[in-house]
Amino acid sequence: MRRLHRQQVDNMFIINCKNYNEISGEKINKLASIAEKISKKYKIQIAIAPPHHLLASIKKSKLLVFAQHLDDAKIGSTTGYMIPEIVKKSKVNGALINHSEHRISSKEIINLVKRLKKLKMKTVVCVKNVREAETYAKLNPTYIAIEPPELIGTGRAISNERPELITKSLLAVKKARNSTKLLCGAGIVTSDDVERAIELGSHGILVASGIVKSRNWNKDIEAVSYTHLRAHET
Ligand code: G3P
Repeated sequence: MRRLHRQQVDNMFIINCKNYNEISGEKINKLASIAEKISKKYKIQIAIAPPHHLLASIKKSKLLVFAQHLDDAKIGSTTGYMIPEIVKKSKVNGALINHSEHRISSKEIINLVKRLKKLKMKTVVCVKNVREAETYAKLNPTYIAIEPPELIGTGRAISNERPELITKSLLAVKKARNSTKLLCGAGIVTSDDVERAIELGSHGILVASGIVKSRNWNKDIEAVSYTHLRAHET
């Protein structure tokens, strides 16, 4: 990412690690340490969403840790499912719900938002269009995250390719008249992509490949954080 001279939005920057090889094994701790250091330096809230088996191993005071997915399954005899009440006990702070790469039913979204809210965990409901943004904002999740699936992983940013999706989703979220805030993601790589997203009204961003696959995590996480912060100041 190029060095930023202007700034960006609010304090939520989510790094979705997906199942990229770049963060496998011990490597996730290096990414987490860099994110923690930058989060402190810029006083920006960074959340990291590691693969499930690494959730409990990230112990950083300033970072939030989000699950990439949770299941609306019962506590107890549910082998292999990821249960809100159980991950909460391993200090997980929240979860992505209904990510494009792991879609779930409407009933499951409703139940999971309810369960996570009861546990005081943060909820990031991912949606692929404005209609879904409007529907799920009514549940009052912490965030609605608009991500057009066709741009995910392409390096072509939502903020440049589909700016109207951000502005219309913002209106849809506002219509719910609650505390839900809008995030956006898909194809975000450069500081300009971040800045534009914030200018369009997004409260924060979700990034995966643009950070995780970068050859310089320090430089790129710092660039996004700096842009984010400055944009919020303006
Ligand atoms: O959850 C964020 C993600 O889906 C965006 O992916 O690789 O386009 O930043 P990417």
